[in-house]
Formats: sequence, structure tokens, C-alpha cells
Amino acid sequence: MVSRAMREEAAVNDKIEILSVELLTKHRERVAELTRLSERLPIQLGWHYLLDLAWMLENLGNPRGLVILDAGAGLGVMQWHLLEQKAAKVISVDRVDRSELRLGIRARYRVTGMRPADLKSGAAIVRKNVAAAAGAGKISAALRGLGGLFLSALPKAFPGKLVFYHHDLAFMPDIPDNSLDAAVAVSALEHNASEELPGVVSEIMRKLKPGGRLLATLGAAKEKDWFHEPSRGWNYTDATLRRLFSLAPGAPSNYDRFDALFASLKDCAELRDNLAPFYSKSGDNGMPWGKWDPQYQPVGVCKTKPA
Ligand SMILES: C[S@@+](CC[C@H](N)C(=O)[O-])C[C@H]1O[C@@H](n2cnc3c(N)ncnc32)[C@H](O)[C@@H]1O
Repeated sequence: MVSRAMREEAAVNDKIEILSVELLTKHRERVAELTRLSERLPIQLGWHYLLDLAWMLENLGNPRGLVILDAGAGLGVMQWHLLEQKAAKVISVDRVDRSELRLGIRARYRVTGMRPADLKSGAAIVRKNVAAAAGAGKISAALRGLGGLFLSALPKAFPGKLVFYHHDLAFMPDIPDNSLDAAVAVSALEHNASEELPGVVSEIMRKLKPGGRLLATLGAAKEKDWFHEPSRGWNYTDATLRRLFSLAPGAPSNYDRFDALFASLKDCAELRDNLAPFYSKSGDNGMPWGKWDPQYQPVGVCKTKPA
């Protein structure tokens, strides 16, 4: 039974925060580390992801030894960073099939599937790659595939385990209730319309231990919710976020600084000058054709399960 006092305490931790570009200077070392990791993997970063990641890690605290859900993880950098920070287990959920994860990534981290179909074996991937390369007469590519299998079987540098789970966030029957220390959702929940999002939030909250925290970043809208077609993401007002995440009325927010924060984001040379190359290749993304012109700003939502 959750008492009124417990609910009030959780509400104190709840907040809505439009992400300020000051996070880049406040967390300079961490930002550099995340940038290096994205280059090493390599995984290109979304145009505002360094803000999202810095804010989330600031609010998460030390992940060492924790069991963390990465909700709508894709192949994003957060899950690998959490493993490198010695999280005990990261459950990486997405409705996109990632069962053919690159061997190069498997060489570095301990990755398994929640169920056999969630992650194909390294041998199955190599068989497929080698057959395709040999069929095309590319013998050196076939040999590289075999080398990848050897590397993916070597001992890993980090103790934690990453578990891929191919599922919708609104229903995660294979994750026990009250089993997660924390949940992060980097620029993922905005791909759920307002009718769907409360179901996703309550399923994540059900899986968190009492006292566990959900940290999510989405797009912010000033006066009216709107859909950004190129990135297929929703931007939500302060009132909508409070309703969809069932935040307490007293949860603080900085939406009163919406315009000033947006102006600094538009002026941010560091993000502008480091746009990932994939943006220039299409108009079907968050920064169409790589032209620096932010149409929305990222906002973080923090929701704590009453202890
Ligand atoms: C823009 S990508 C971000 C991926 C990752 N978090 C990152 O940092 O790169 C959003 C991801 O969220 C996933 N997603 C959104 N809503 C979901 C849902 N209801 N169930 C499962 N996956 C979802 C999408 O499939 C997509 O892979």
C-alpha cells in the first residue's frame, strides 16, 4: 500500500526539464567520453543526443551494479555506456529487430537475448555473411567474417550483461514486476501517440522497484502538441507531459523558460558543427538534409515510483 507521504516524496523527485545546452559544459568530460564511444562503436548520434545522455546520466547517478531498462534502445550509445560504467544488467527493449547485432559489438560486450530469437548466435551470423561473401566471390570478406566470430568469443572487458528483448514497451511479460533499479528512454517515447504513451509509462513503472526512477527524453511543444513529420516524433506541452506521465501537480518544470532555452539551442555552435553525417543524406530525419534548423527542443521527464 502506497501512503500519501510516499506519494508526496516521489512527487518531489518528479520533474520536467527542457534540456539546456549548458549541459554540454557542465558535463564536459562525460560528453567527451560519450563522443569517443560513439566514434569507437561506431554509432552516429542524433543531433541533440549528447544533451539527452548528459541529462539522463546526471539524474541517474552511478549505474554501477544496477539493473537498468533501456526503453526503445535501438542500437543507441546509452546501453553500451551503462555497461562500461559497470551496470550489472541492461535490458535493452525495442520493437525493431536487432537479432543480427554486429559481431564487432559482440566482441566488446556480453550480449544475450531474452529469448533465443532476440539475438541470433554469432555462428549463425557468420554462416550467413560467409555464404553471401563466398557466393559473391569475396573471399577476403568471408575470412573477415570468420575473424569476427573468433573475436566475439573472446573474454569481455566489462562485467555486466546486455539482454536484447524484441518487444513493444507497452507489454513486457518477460520482465518481472518490481525488478528494475531504473529505466532510461533516450528519445524513444515521443514515437508513441498520446493515446499509447500512458500504457507504455505504466508498464515501465510496473517493472521498476519501489523507489526506482524513469528518465525519459522527448520533444517539447510550447502551446499545443504537434507531430514532427520528418522524425515521426511527437512534441508535447508541459500539461500533456504531466497528464501522460501522471506527474504530481507540484512537479517542477522549466517550461517558463521555453523561448530562452530554444534560442540558445538554435545558437549552439557545438551541436550545429558536429551533426552526424547521416543527416545530410535524407530529408526524412530530425534535421532534414543536415541543415541546422532545430524545429523542436528535447525535454527530460523524471518519474519516481513511490518507495
Ligand atoms: C529515435 S530511436 C532512439 C534509439 C535509442 N534510444 C538511441 O539512443 O539511439 C527510437 C527507438 O524507440 C523505439 N520505440 C519507440 N516506441 C517504442 C515502443 N512502444 N516499443 C518498443 N520500441 C519503441 C523505436 O523502435 C526506435 O528504435
